[in-house]
Amino acid sequence: MKLKNKTFIITGATSGMGKATALLFAREGANLILSGRDIDRGESLVHEIQEMAEEVHFIPGDVGEIDVNRRLVANSISSYGQLDGLVCHAGELGLGSITDLDIDTWHRIFRTNVDAVFYLLKAALPELLKRERASVVINASIAAFKSFPNHPAYCASKAALVALARQAAVDYGPGVRVNSICPGPVDTPLIHASAVAFPDPAKAVTAAGENTLMQRLGTPEDVAKLALFLTSDDASWITGSCYVIDGGILAKG
Ligand SMILES: NC(=O)c1ccc[n+]([C@@H]2O[C@H](COP(=O)([O-])OP(=O)(O)OC[C@H]3O[C@@H](n4cnc5c(N)ncnc54)[C@H](OP(=O)(O)O)[C@@H]3O)[C@@H](O)[C@H]2O)c1
Repeated sequence: MKLKNKTFIITGATSGMGKATALLFAREGANLILSGRDIDRGESLVHEIQEMAEEVHFIPGDVGEIDVNRRLVANSISSYGQLDGLVCHAGELGLGSITDLDIDTWHRIFRTNVDAVFYLLKAALPELLKRERASVVINASIAAFKSFPNHPAYCASKAALVALARQAAVDYGPGVRVNSICPGPVDTPLIHASAVAFPDPAKAVTAAGENTLMQRLGTPEDVAKLALFLTSDDASWITGSCYVIDGGILAKG
């Protein structure tokens, strides 16, 4: 077990890549603090993990609120006495060109995608620095490097996350390793939401997978395995990096 006796906070754990990460980390023996807004989905995941006899807590809330992030860290310390890492998956979309997108939507996307990660880092770093080898993984996107029609706030927010991860690695190494991951199209509810701008959304999602060199969408588990590698001691010399996991779509151009 790669994460035995280690404690992680996973945001966005109620769905998609965050849920797959929670299940994989539980199988690897981690103690978990899970975050999301949907209480039913959160509690159902807790039951699934408890059946594996692993320790887990679900703390519901909107990560755009600083107190929710403080609560995640406080709960980690009160439940397990330590915090060894973060996997920040929570994220959301908002579609519309720059001229169409309303300013509230711009702020909402930055609040969830960027401010929330800053808040969690701010609350967690004092605890992470107490550990010998802590690790943070931040889910950005290939949208940090590649534009998508009508995704200005999403793309800009994801580029900000790549920079924030790199900056945290510089300021808090060697004790805390920080890396970002940049998935391409992964089969989760979010990609189906992003496809509503197309005349045939289902066809657009299928085409996004077929358009990769691997000719399929990524699975949430593909990304969870990368998060596991980066948080584990197998990646002990990797920090300040950005890992693309996209079936080869950026290489294809
Ligand atoms: N799917 C893709 O193709 C793709 C590609 C590249 C990057 N990404 C990124 O991967 C990450 C995970 O997305 P996913 O594809 O797995 O999507 P998903 O299945 O829609 O999951 C999104 C998760 O984020 C949580 N969340 C959203 N807003 C939140 C908020 N304000 N407060 C707390 N939790 C919030 C949701 O929780 P609740 O529903 O419980 O609120 C949910 O657990 C996101 O950052 C996304 O931008 C996705």
